[in-house]
Amino acid sequence: MQKKSFELTAKRLGCEVRFLQETASTNRDVDTAAQAGAAEGFLVMADAQTAGRGRMSHTWFSPPGANLYFSLLLRPDVELAAVQSLPLVVGLAVTEAIIECAPALQPKIKWPNDLLVNGKKICGILCELQTKHDKPDYIVAGIGVNVNLTADQIPNELKTSATSILIENGKPLNREQLLAAILNRLEPLYDNWRAFGFKPFVANMHALDALRGLLIRIDLSGEPVEGIAAGIQADGALLLETSKGLRPIYSGEAHILARVL
Ligand code: BTN
Repeated sequence: MQKKSFELTAKRLGCEVRFLQETASTNRDVDTAAQAGAAEGFLVMADAQTAGRGRMSHTWFSPPGANLYFSLLLRPDVELAAVQSLPLVVGLAVTEAIIECAPALQPKIKWPNDLLVNGKKICGILCELQTKHDKPDYIVAGIGVNVNLTADQIPNELKTSATSILIENGKPLNREQLLAAILNRLEPLYDNWRAFGFKPFVANMHALDALRGLLIRIDLSGEPVEGIAAGIQADGALLLETSKGLRPIYSGEAHILARVL
């Protein structure tokens, strides 16, 4: 892969970039660097991952030559509770970047950390937090975007749920261009989030919310809860309209059961 051939206007995010042909997981690499004292903005990008990690102990399909896999080190000076909404802010930045590079696409954000195009997953975000004295020490924000994956490269078990920019847009996209666009979009959003939390993003999130108005099930540990997704509140929680009233949900995986309207 070429190095930084597209204009990176972000000053801190991507200040040091390490490109790897293959690695187990870029999240793991950035975690190791963080423990050795790497600065905020340090980034590892790989052409392929042999043990790409997803949420809930899932693996992330990471073949070579097709997609974007990278992780970014963040060291925000915020309270622990604020970190909950960071994946949504990263999701907003990736959404804006995809629209910038492929304007025909209309990505939606599926709380808490997926981007969907035409109902299928095009990007996954895995933010891993390390704490120190009850404050965030650092966060590894891992982003996987299906960029130039062809339909026949998608494994059978993901065929109904995954897609790529190439599949949806009908043409390939340069991965470095998308990386630069994501970092350029994320830096100002991240600074805004550090200063003011998630509140300034709620209106924007409302327009991009893939779940709003749908009947969904959230698998909380051992206790599935069903209801109609009623938006995202200012602390990043998903609001679920259940038979017992409105309930904020802070973690879990959302399964779409039906379109209500
Ligand atoms: C999910 O949807 O479950 C999150 C997937 C996150 C995948 C990315 S790819 C780059 C980074 N390295 C990893 O091991 N995982 C993240």
